[in-house]
Amino acid sequence: MSELSLSATIPTNQSNSVPLLGLGVWKSRPKECYEAVKSALEFGYRHIDTAAIYGNEADVGVAIRDSGIHRNDIFLVTKLWNADQGYDEAQKAIDVSLKKLGTDYVDMYLIHFPVSGKRKDSWKALEKIKKDGKAKSIGVSNFMVSHLEELLKETDIVPAMNQVEFHPFLQDTELKNYCSTKGILLEAYSPLAHGQKLEDERVTRLAKKYNKSNAQILIRWSLQAGNVVIPKSKNPIRIKENADVFDFQLSREDMEEISSWNENFRTCWDPTTVE
Ligand SMILES: NC(=O)c1ccc[n+]([C@@H]2O[C@H](COP(=O)([O-])OP(=O)(O)OC[C@H]3O[C@@H](n4cnc5c(N)ncnc54)[C@H](OP(=O)(O)O)[C@@H]3O)[C@@H](O)[C@H]2O)c1
Repeated sequence: MSELSLSATIPTNQSNSVPLLGLGVWKSRPKECYEAVKSALEFGYRHIDTAAIYGNEADVGVAIRDSGIHRNDIFLVTKLWNADQGYDEAQKAIDVSLKKLGTDYVDMYLIHFPVSGKRKDSWKALEKIKKDGKAKSIGVSNFMVSHLEELLKETDIVPAMNQVEFHPFLQDTELKNYCSTKGILLEAYSPLAHGQKLEDERVTRLAKKYNKSNAQILIRWSLQAGNVVIPKSKNPIRIKENADVFDFQLSREDMEEISSWNENFRTCWDPTTVE
């Protein structure tokens, strides 16, 4: 991994590299999403995380084009929605996403959730999508260790990434270690615990200590823990703030303290019970 910075990237196991910090756009309504992506790109973000189900792929695409930044310089992620899982369905879904995004490839295409009875065929479709050049890399999201074990028995292409909920209050270290041993990047979604733990008094104490905001402490912890991180904001001031995390470093003691805060606090859907 290169030194932490907004332009720092980490190589995937599939020949491209992903910027360590990206912008998430879940729940950003179309116009907000356009402004958020445009601002993020102006501030130096080069990684945007959307999904078919977010309903804002078209706005992401227009913002990227309007930014004037070369498409090759932006790492664009979208995801295969549950209703579109299956071999034929997934191949249709990527074409719909690409059309909305206004691009002929994404940098990473993820299976959004490990849907029972569908996920194996979906992965075969993603392999084809990669072979056809419609996705530079392919990966998964919300896959637990059991789902990854099952997938790795079936495939020669190891997922480049597993995007899962991960923050100080939800740390699945078994999953993180498993991904690490298999060369799968762990991407932390909801790194701010979906905004639900920003007022935690321990976070506030550290924010005061480092003279940074509570959100910046959570984002910095995740980066220093070796994750790829995609905080969401629709607000240009907060988008800038969330990227202003490279002028300080959490001490080893503070990293350890935050790493002890796990309470299995899940803010999003729970894949642990999916067969
Ligand atoms: N694969 C999956 O199943 C999955 C699931 C969930 C999320 N994700 C991805 O991960 C991204 C991030 O996760 P998330 O959206 O759930 O939550 P998050 O990034 O943990 O938190 C977002 C919330 O925090 C607020 N916020 C952002 N920056 C802030 C700051 N500096 N100060 C105070 N509040 C701040 C946002 O409000 P404002 O917008 O008003 O600033 C929003 O309410 C998503 O957008 C999506 O791309 C993926």
